[in-house]
Amino acid sequence: MALRGVPTITLNDGVTIPQIGFGTMNLSDVRDNSPESHEVTAKSVDAAIAAGYRHFDTAQMYANERGLGLGIARSGIPREQFFLTSKLGNGNHRPDDVRRSFDRSLAALGVERLDLFLMHWPLPTLYGGDYVSTWRAITRLVDEGLLRSAGVSNFNPDHLQRIIDETGRVPSVNQIEIHPYFGKRPVFAACATHGIAIEAWSPLGQAKVLGDATLGEIARRHNRSAAEIVLRWHTQQGRIVIPKSATPARMKQNIAVFDFTLAPSDLAAIDALDKGEAGRRGPNPDTFDWIPSASNPNPVVHR
Ligand SMILES: NC(=O)c1ccc[n+]([C@@H]2O[C@H](COP(=O)([O-])OP(=O)(O)OC[C@H]3O[C@@H](n4cnc5c(N)ncnc54)[C@H](OP(=O)(O)O)[C@@H]3O)[C@@H](O)[C@H]2O)c1
Repeated sequence: MALRGVPTITLNDGVTIPQIGFGTMNLSDVRDNSPESHEVTAKSVDAAIAAGYRHFDTAQMYANERGLGLGIARSGIPREQFFLTSKLGNGNHRPDDVRRSFDRSLAALGVERLDLFLMHWPLPTLYGGDYVSTWRAITRLVDEGLLRSAGVSNFNPDHLQRIIDETGRVPSVNQIEIHPYFGKRPVFAACATHGIAIEAWSPLGQAKVLGDATLGEIARRHNRSAAEIVLRWHTQQGRIVIPKSATPARMKQNIAVFDFTLAPSDLAAIDALDKGEAGRRGPNPDTFDWIPSASNPNPVVHR
């Protein structure tokens, strides 16, 4: 157990990561890199730090690294006590751009080294289908001592196999969409085979699963909220989770899920809520090809 009862997971490269982190996407309504937006992000980060979070998930495409860095800096807590993840923007896949954009991420966050950096999307239909040289460039950051751990996000089994076969470097983490309505993924087996830790994004299904009757019944029995039940379902199965909340009371609730245990029958009942493809909320990694631009700074596809 680490800080405030949050367990840590040891990744396949020996780096340890707190099992729960704070998701920072869309804390501010706009991705405009303005001081006002950064202050909105930083205020939530202040509250998350007060609630006990030390692991934070951001991305170049969220345009909020500066706001996160601001919150970290003004906390006065030593840098080494934080675990910071960022992700490569979809427009930065060329190897030179990986390095250039990574340096910008470090500067925006106000740190000299990042704990985890993920290729945000494989983009198999862009860059001539080459996400291998992108991956090699990310692993080079580890070799140079600028990055502690290199991972990927939204990688399907064939994407994982290809980068491993062609570079010999196994990602430490695969951050993918997982929640009760999109909960059984073929990629789980591939991650297990390679010892890749699974991190769930939109772990609460962007709150769309929380009114589910089955979750409600389990929540009543455990005297917990539906969100706590869902986060416990993830964490009991060894997954890392990064729920987002702009609400301090929910931030506190979400991080305090390690003092109760769901029965195997509860876990099975939540597994049974899976809707397959119909439950997916985000883009499909095989076809997603959005690159942010000034005229089109926001994705998405989220239903
Ligand atoms: N790698 C990727 O491609 C990718 C894609 C999407 C997301 N992510 C990461 O994953 C993080 C989380 O995903 P997400 O933000 O899409 O969705 P999420 O964490 O599943 O859900 C966030 C929603 O749930 C609500 N919520 C949070 N805690 C709650 C609680 N205890 N009770 C009731 N409602 C609660 C929040 O409301 P309030 O904020 O109003 O409290 C918000 O509307 C992101 O912030 C980002 O860091 C990564």
